[in-house]
Formats: sequence, structure tokens, C-alpha cells
Amino acid sequence: MTQLKNKHFVLGLTGGIACYKAAELCRALMKDGASVQVVMSEGATQFITPVTMQALSGRPVFLSQWDARESNNMAHINLTREADAILIAPASAEFVAKLLHGRADDLLSLMCLARPIDKVPLIVAPAMNKEMWGNPATQRNMVQLKHDGAHVLDVGAGDQACGEVGDGRMLEPEQILEALKAHFTEKLLEGRRVLITAGPTYEAIDPVRGITNLSSGKMGFALARACSRAGAQVTLISGPVSLETPVGVERIGVISAQQMYEATQERVQNADIFIAAAAVADWRVHLAGEQKIKKGKDRTVPQLELVENPDILKTVASSPRALTQELYCVGFAAESENLEELATAKRVSKGVPLLIANVGPQTFGLDENALLLVDESGTRELPWASKDALSDELVKEIATRISRA
Ligand code: CTP
Repeated sequence: MTQLKNKHFVLGLTGGIACYKAAELCRALMKDGASVQVVMSEGATQFITPVTMQALSGRPVFLSQWDARESNNMAHINLTREADAILIAPASAEFVAKLLHGRADDLLSLMCLARPIDKVPLIVAPAMNKEMWGNPATQRNMVQLKHDGAHVLDVGAGDQACGEVGDGRMLEPEQILEALKAHFTEKLLEGRRVLITAGPTYEAIDPVRGITNLSSGKMGFALARACSRAGAQVTLISGPVSLETPVGVERIGVISAQQMYEATQERVQNADIFIAAAAVADWRVHLAGEQKIKKGKDRTVPQLELVENPDILKTVASSPRALTQELYCVGFAAESENLEELATAKRVSKGVPLLIANVGPQTFGLDENALLLVDESGTRELPWASKDALSDELVKEIATRISRA
């Protein structure tokens, strides 16, 4: 279950090549349990057909304020009264200009003007050429649009359909979806600074080989997204994984446990909450080879000498700020057996108020997990669910505990 389940959106498309992304966005909204009513400007129909949008949304698309399907002939009123939000994606420069002048010469602009402004938020995902985006007129319009109460999403940067490169691309459907989820999330961590470690570490044996583990980083990244949705300022220290950096999250890339330790030590002073979700290698190779180790003629198998890595969580949890609960520390435990018993002991040995345990080998790499929360009063199971949904639950658990502390 996500924040978008049972939400109803009016998805407005205006003229722009990014209309192709609106198709994917519509699908993603439906997949997350929302319902979608598509309304298109005349310009949008030049880029994508209403047939496509009808098939994806499962509802006839509205194009005209004169649409006779509405018995009172007031589509501009009826369509928004049950909506949880109007989302304009893509929003062209022309449509934004229309919005802030209160113009109403087609169904979409008329509908935006006629929406109950206190009940139905207007969320705008701009999409245009970089020069149009950078033009003082557009920038002025964006400022005014925000001032008028619309939620204006960022634009992306990169290759544009016209061949130019720069700011103005519409955000990707996944990013818009995340922004919508954030919009509907209670800001339980507003003003909090959260530091999270995630993913595996990689300990070099020589320049081409190393020791690592099967952690995908998905749980730590899901937590970073959930904390950010809940209003926190999030820094994510991640081992080598190929996951997208969550929007609005600062990501620090590291390779080894030692680097993760140093990156954490540098930043933890500025954090209110520390969540150690990384699967840190316990040992590294003493004196890793500077050149690739060769087999050699006698085929002797190399003997690796291992030394212990610093325990990042234990070090942070025993710092003065953590001991006075000015810094709230949360640990993870990946076990392969006796989850409750081992996790209960691990919470005490790490010195953290809250430990989240899971059966590591079963869930590494998956999008779902089942968790066991362990604190001083006992344990609580969070049954099998998506890592995103579990992360929202964990945010609530952490927020409740820090408000008590
Ligand atoms: N952890 C850490 N630094 C380490 C090892 C672990 O910060 N060098 C953190 C992990 O991020 C996790 C918690 O400690 O939050 C427990 O990690 P886990 O791998 O389950 O346990 P270990 O401490 O490594 O103990 P063991 O391998 O004996 O189970």
C-alpha cells in the first residue's frame, strides 16, 4: 500500500514532447492504486492520442468544455470535485502563462481556474526547451505560480528533443510519482537531519578482485526516500550499488568499510538520526596487492590475511551525542537463523535503542522484505511487504520514539 492508493487524480496534458512520459506516469499512478481522469489540451493531442490515454487510464479522456457527455455540460466543474489533486504533466510554457493570468479558453485551463483552491491542490510538472525555461518571462511566471499556491515540481537537465542540452526536461515518471507520494505524506521528520548507510562494502584483494556481499542497497535507499518524503534532510552514504539516487537526497559514494566509516564520522555530528542499513564487511585484506596477484608457476594458492574493519554503528552509538539521545541510532541485523534471539543480543551489543532485523539471505536483492523490530520492551513483526511500505512504517516508529526521547 502506498500513499497514492485510492487517491483520484485529474491528469492534465498540454502540448510538448514529454507527453510520451505522461503515458508512463498514468500507468504508474494506476499501478500504485490511484484512479486517473485524463484531460488534454488541443496541443497535447498533437503529441499523443486520447485513445492511448483512455486505454491506460480506463476512462474516456476529456478534451473540450463543450463535451456533451456531462449531463449538466459542466465538465470543468464536475471533474475536479472528487479529485485529490490536479497534476499538469507536461505543463508547457504557454499553459503556465495561461494559469497565472487566470485565463480559461479551453477545458483544462477552465478546470484549473474553477477548482476549489483550498481542497484540490494544483501540481505542475513543467517541460520545455532550455531557452524557454531560462527566459525571464517563464521564470517570473514560475515564481508567481508558486505564490498563487501551485506546487511547481523541478525540471530535469540533459538532452532535449530539439537536440540542445540543458534544464527544462520534464522529470521522469518515477520522480513525479515520488513527488506525489511526498505531497501526501505526513511530515513526521520535518526539520530532522538523517544520516543513512546503505549497500555492501567492497574490500580489495588486489586491483581487480575483492570481497563483498549480496546486499543490494534497496532497503537503505527505500529508507532514504521514506525519510525524505517525511520531510527530513537526508544524507545517504552508499557502498557500490547501481540504484538511482532518490530525489532530494544527498548521496556520498564509498567503496570500502574504512571509507564508509570516515564518511560517517565526518557527517554524523550534523545528524539527529543515524540509520545503519549497510552490510559492512567485517574484515578487509591486510596489505591488498598493488598489482594483480598472478597464479605463478608452482600454482601456490595465496593466503589472505584479514584484519577487522571498524564497527561504524557501534562507534557512533557510543559517542556522547548518542548516549544522551541527542542522536538517535538505529541498527540493522542480517541473520541467517534464530532471528529473534540473535537480534535481541545484537541490539544490546551495538548499544542502540532500536534494531531492525531480517533474514538476510532470503531478501537480498528483492523489492520486499519482512522485518522484526527489536527495542528494550521486546519485539514486533512487520510482515512481508514492499521495502517502500516497510520504510514508511519504520519512519513512523522512529518518529514516535524520538518524540518521546
Ligand atoms: N555494522 C557497522 N559496521 C560494521 C559492521 C556492522 O556499522 N563494521 C552495522 C550494520 O550496518 C548493521 C549492524 O551493524 O546496522 C549489524 O550488522 P550485521 O552485519 O548484522 O552484524 P555484525 O555486527 O557484522 O555481526 P555478525 O557478523 O557477527 O552478525
